[in-house]
Amino acid sequence: MQARGLAAASLPVFLTNGSEKTGLLADEINGEKLGFMINESLSPYNKLGGDAAVRELVDRFYDYMDTLPEAQGIRRLHPADLTGSRDKLYKFLSGWLGGPSLYMQEYGHPRLRARHLPFKIAEAERDAWMLCMEKAMEDMGVDDPLMKSHLIQSLWKTADHMRNV
Ligand code: HEM
Repeated sequence: MQARGLAAASLPVFLTNGSEKTGLLADEINGEKLGFMINESLSPYNKLGGDAAVRELVDRFYDYMDTLPEAQGIRRLHPADLTGSRDKLYKFLSGWLGGPSLYMQEYGHPRLRARHLPFKIAEAERDAWMLCMEKAMEDMGVDDPLMKSHLIQSLWKTADHMRNV
C-alpha cells in the first residue's frame, strides 16, 4: 500500500489535452475539456501500460457493451460491427490519457459533444457507458488506486458532458 503523499505526488494533474503534451495547465478547446498532461513518464497512458493497454481497455469496454444486459440500450446506438468504434475510442483515449494524440492526428479536433448530439444521451445512457468502462478498468488491474479513481472521475465528467437530454 502506497503512502498517500507518495501516491499523490506520483499522480498526473488531470486537466485537459487533445493537443500538445507541454503545459502544466489545461487548455480548453471550444470549451470542451479533453485530457490533461504534465510529465509524460507519469502519464496515465504510461502507467496503464501504453498502447497495448489502451487497446485492451477499449476492447474490454466494447466487449462489456456487447454483452451486459444493462448496456443493450447504448449498444443499439452503435453500429452492428464495433470495429470502427473500437478503433476510434482507442485513438481518442490514447491522447486523452496523455499518450500520442492519434485521434487528433487522423480526424482533427474530436468535438465530442457535437458528435454525440445525434444520439439521445440521458443519465441512463451515461451510467450504462460508465458501467462498461468501470468494469473494463477493473479488469486492467490498475495498481494505483488513486490514479484509477481519478480516471474514473474524469471519464464520468466527460460522459456527463455528453448528456443532451
Ligand atoms: C455518455 C454515454 C455515451 C454514449 C451513449 C456514447 C455513444 C456513442 C455513439 C453511439 C457513437 C457513434 C458510433 C461510433 O462511432 O462508435 C460514439 C462515438 C464516439 N464516442 Fe461515445 N458515447 C458516450 C460517451 C463517450 C465518452 C465519455 C467518450 C470519451 C471518453 C466517447 C468517445 C467517443 C468517440 C471518440 C467516438 C467516435 C467519434 C467519431 O465519430 O469520430 N463517448 N459514442
